[in-house]
This record gives sequence, C-alpha cells and structure tokens, in this order.
Amino acid sequence: MANRNSDQISPVLIGLMGSGKSSIGRRLAKHFGTALIDLDNYIVEKAGKSIPEIFAEQGEEGFRDLESKALNEVLGRHGVIATGGGAILREENRKLLKEHPPVIWLKASPEFLARRIDGDNNRPLIAAGETLKKLQQLAEIRYPLYEQCADFILPRGDMKKREAIESILQFLTDWQAK
Ligand code: S3P
Repeated sequence: MANRNSDQISPVLIGLMGSGKSSIGRRLAKHFGTALIDLDNYIVEKAGKSIPEIFAEQGEEGFRDLESKALNEVLGRHGVIATGGGAILREENRKLLKEHPPVIWLKASPEFLARRIDGDNNRPLIAAGETLKKLQQLAEIRYPLYEQCADFILPRGDMKKREAIESILQFLTDWQAK
C-alpha cells in the first residue's frame, strides 16, 4: 500500500471519561500542527447548552442523538478527534468509527479513572456519586465496544503522559507506513 500522507492523518481517540482523550488529543494536535476537535465541546457549542443541561432537558437519549449527529459531522475532517466516553455505544457510531481509522483506545482501569474524575460535576453519569462503582459498570459494558473499534490500544496507568504520546506517535508512524 502507498504511504499515507501525514497531512491526512486524523486520529480518533476513544475511551472512558477521565482517560485523557482531550489532554492527549491536545498534545497530538500540537505535534501535528493541526486542530483538536473535541466532540463534547462541539456538541455544547452547537446546542448552546452545557452537557448537564442537555442531560437534564433531553435525557441521555437526547444527548446520544446529538452525539451521533456530531460524530457524523466531524469524522472525516482533518484534525485530532477526541470523542466523549459514550460515543461507541450506538452501533451506527461504531460502524462510522471503523470507517475512519486510525481509532485509538485510551484504556484505563476504573480505579485509575475514579481517582481522576471523582467529584466532577460536569459529567452527569457520575453526578450521583459512587464514581468507582459507576465506572466499573461502564467498563464492563463498554470495554468490548472500545475494543471492536480500536486500531490501537494504549494502556493508561503507570505510563506518564509523555510516554503515552510517544507510544501513540510510534503507532501512527507504523500505521502510516503500512
Ligand atoms: C459520557 C462522557 C462524557 C460526555 C457525557 C457522557 C459517557 O465525555 O460525553 O458526559 O457516556 O461516558 P468525556 O468522556 O469526555 O468525559
């Protein structure tokens, strides 16, 4: 296969909340001199409402509708795309993600994530407390779905952010050369 043009690469980051999709995405975007497209921010800007407001007014399904629409609109654009943790829930979204590689799963344990996001009031799914328990439930349902979509799995945890970026960049170099 011919080399993929590095200008064209638009990695998509998936993973549970708190796995660092936005912050790692920002670093990758900087590295490539390209834009970071953060799906949650995109939804918030389009709706003119915060995520907790959308959940409160339209319920989770209403939010998922906006999320699917947004994913449809941004995939294929040039940049680094950071999705929300639940973007892999709908089959139509997973199909779309598979059509827009490379997809990178930032895989982290519920324990690691709970330490990072406990008490965050911008995330309705953990607003009721019991963050660790909720993350364990989400991980059980979602890990197989992230795995289905992923071209590369980055284990978060002990790895420093700098090492995580290096590991992703190495994958992207190999992927482009395929
Ligand atoms: C969600 C994750 C959030 C946001 C919304 C729902 C989820 O994004 O989309 O609160 O279902 O896991 P982050 O993963 O960026 O926190």
